[in-house]
Amino acid sequence: MTDSNASNSVETQKEFIVRLANVVGDGLLCVSIAMGIETGLFQTMIDLKEEHKTTQEIADAGDFKERYVREWLGSQVAAKIVEYDPKDRTYWLPSQRYAVAGTVKASAMIMAVPNLCAAFFDVAKCFKKDGPRGVSYDKYADFDELMAGMNQEFFKDCLIQSFLPSMPKLHQQLQDGIKVLEIGCSQGMSTRIIAQNFPNSQVYGIDITESGIKEAQEKATEAGLGNVHFIVMSATVLPSDWSETFDYVFVHNVLHDLPYPMKSLHEIMRVLKKGGTLSVIDTATYSKLEDNVAKIPTFARKGYVLSMMNSVPTSLNNVDGAGLGAMWGREKAQEMMKAANFDIISISSIPKSTSLHYQCQKM
Ligand SMILES: C[S@@+](CC[C@H](N)C(=O)[O-])C[C@H]1O[C@@H](n2cnc3c(N)ncnc32)[C@H](O)[C@@H]1O
Repeated sequence: MTDSNASNSVETQKEFIVRLANVVGDGLLCVSIAMGIETGLFQTMIDLKEEHKTTQEIADAGDFKERYVREWLGSQVAAKIVEYDPKDRTYWLPSQRYAVAGTVKASAMIMAVPNLCAAFFDVAKCFKKDGPRGVSYDKYADFDELMAGMNQEFFKDCLIQSFLPSMPKLHQQLQDGIKVLEIGCSQGMSTRIIAQNFPNSQVYGIDITESGIKEAQEKATEAGLGNVHFIVMSATVLPSDWSETFDYVFVHNVLHDLPYPMKSLHEIMRVLKKGGTLSVIDTATYSKLEDNVAKIPTFARKGYVLSMMNSVPTSLNNVDGAGLGAMWGREKAQEMMKAANFDIISISSIPKSTSLHYQCQKM
């Protein structure tokens, strides 16, 4: 049964119960995989290079307690991720399964489960009419770290290599030296990469989260970058003396999370110079549920959960927050950009990403 036909086929009660049981099994397995990533157990197994080892040998190799390792290995063998030989009670991780923890993005996607579930009961309370408005970012576990992991591939392999060169005029301006602003930069990986590759440009990164900006600044100092500036600041009201200051504004997977996205778009319009460029990178979703379910069923299954657990509650945590959610869709996105008087020059998909790039201009 595929994602897309599950709700259309005539499913019996018995079949539905089996499907639910599988959901529970996969959900719990996800927790165990996340445990293997968080503790470093998968890395220990990878370092052992398919050598067949006992629970004690694996525990010793990674400095773990054997009893915990044994239980974890049980779950991994049952899930057919780790292999087991009952003859000598040894375990190994086949190399074709190293991806379980061997790629940053895969690990980050798995880690989204415990990370976001750190706020599970806080989010649950928000559902009640008399419950809290929303949830603050600090309720999630390592949220900035999670974002860095999820987006690292795009930032490191595409941003400089293909994304910015796809706008030749802007690319040349970056080389010559311009002023760039990133809104919602989190730990500032993309901000630093832009600054590092365009030393003649001055690059500013702002975010509401102090922990992210602190990390961003520390990494910039470590790298000896003198042309990057990180500031804890809300995108709702930018400094009054920033009017017509920036040539380029970069907003990566942030707009739908903002409490007041329309106000922020107006502020971006104000701080951009005439002719300046705005890149909004956001989820390649549709504004209607039925379109998401039909056209991007796999992403929709995950996306609405991520949105319910984080995008909506963090935005609604502010008085009259918009709560657009990560599944807000391309139609709504365009409507809002046009309402803020931006000219949408192009909308394109991005390699190594499930996002769209809205290239906008201040005329
Ligand atoms: C989904 S994360 C994206 C982070 C980063 N751009 C990336 O793609 O990895 C959204 C970011 O928006 C920031 N944010 C939320 N509300 C904000 C506001 N009002 N002003 C500035 N940043 C905000 C959050 O702190 C968070 O770092």
